[in-house]
Amino acid sequence: MTAASAGTPAIPATGGPPPSVDPVRGRIEVRRLTKRFGRLTAVDHLDLDVVPGRITGFLGPNGAGKTTTLRMLLGLIRPSAGTATIEGRRYHDIANPLTVVGSALEATNFHPGRSGRNHLRVLADAAGIPGRRVDEMLELVGIPAAASKRAGGYSMGMRQRLGLAGALLGDPRVIILDEPANGLDPDGIRWLRGFLRHLSSEGRTLLISSHLLSEVEQTVDDVVIIANGKRVAQGTVDELRGDPTAFVRTSDPDRLASTLAGRGLSVARRDGGLHVTTSDLSMVGDIAHAADIAIHELRAEKTHLEELYFTLTDQDQYRNRNLGRTDERPPGQLPPPSGSPVEPTSEDRP
Ligand SMILES: Nc1ncnc2c1ncn2[C@@H]1O[C@H](COP(=O)(O)OP(=O)(O)OP(=O)(O)O)[C@@H](O)[C@H]1O
Ligand SMILES: [Mg+2]
Repeated sequence: MTAASAGTPAIPATGGPPPSVDPVRGRIEVRRLTKRFGRLTAVDHLDLDVVPGRITGFLGPNGAGKTTTLRMLLGLIRPSAGTATIEGRRYHDIANPLTVVGSALEATNFHPGRSGRNHLRVLADAAGIPGRRVDEMLELVGIPAAASKRAGGYSMGMRQRLGLAGALLGDPRVIILDEPANGLDPDGIRWLRGFLRHLSSEGRTLLISSHLLSEVEQTVDDVVIIANGKRVAQGTVDELRGDPTAFVRTSDPDRLASTLAGRGLSVARRDGGLHVTTSDLSMVGDIAHAADIAIHELRAEKTHLEELYFTLTDQDQYRNRNLGRTDERPPGQLPPPSGSPVEPTSEDRP
């Protein structure tokens, strides 16, 4: 891809002025962004920063407000308040936007009777992108053989790849993908991971949403977690994961704790066992074995990030508000039918 130059500017070999660092190039900035649909506040004073050369995972349970946020970033719906900018501009103020930002919001919005190649040709023509990019992109995302087939007959995974090809047509510096791993099999997820890594290593900015932590945890560098339209956590994956710990249960916790501590490990006693700050389960097992201490259970514990995400997806208060909350129902009453309790608003395209 030619946009490798989108990353850090090259450092002059000798002398010359210092490289100029463009403070907005490749950056996404969201400030106090809010979207109300009738009585529902889908996105609530959200702040978000996405920087070049990194993959940012935008995570949250179903209905958290991820797609709504991305749609505001891409100028598809108007914010009720706040701002969402790419390279310091609102989407509609970007000249030739496809060369700056590529996106795939939904894997289903193709004309079903059009071939994958024709779908991309229409996009390329509209944006003045040379037609040869179409076949290059089909090749790049691994569906050249499907190019002449009707997109209506594509599998979910093929539709995701076609969406990705469309996002990359204009060789953009910023790439925004809504649930790109949805519908991919494990092999497809592995492929996507490598592909996104490659794009980010070229200095591009990647923002990808997902409702499943496990789908993106291995892929992303930074994480922003939202629930009920509000940001609940932001940081690097490493920061949010915290130190890996092992849980071990034994018949002789006192002796095992002191043996492990004697080997320099940090040990805490609770929940009927020992929490040991290490990712190395074999080492814990070997130390216990050498000290002739029987082990009844030995496992890696959930990371702080997994615990945090589990709490959000498991607790009623964070679930999709349009599904209704069980604690708001009078006893004996059936759950409300799924669907929107708020008046549907017409899409207020700017
Ligand atoms: N046009 C609309 N009119 C009314 N409510 C809407 C509209 N679009 C979204 N919502 C509601 O806003 C909330 C956030 O929806 P959104 O699609 O942004 O969530 P999401 O985080 O993308 O969820 P998912 O993981 O299911 O894709 C939901 O309660 C949804 O029902
Ligand atoms: Mg969504």
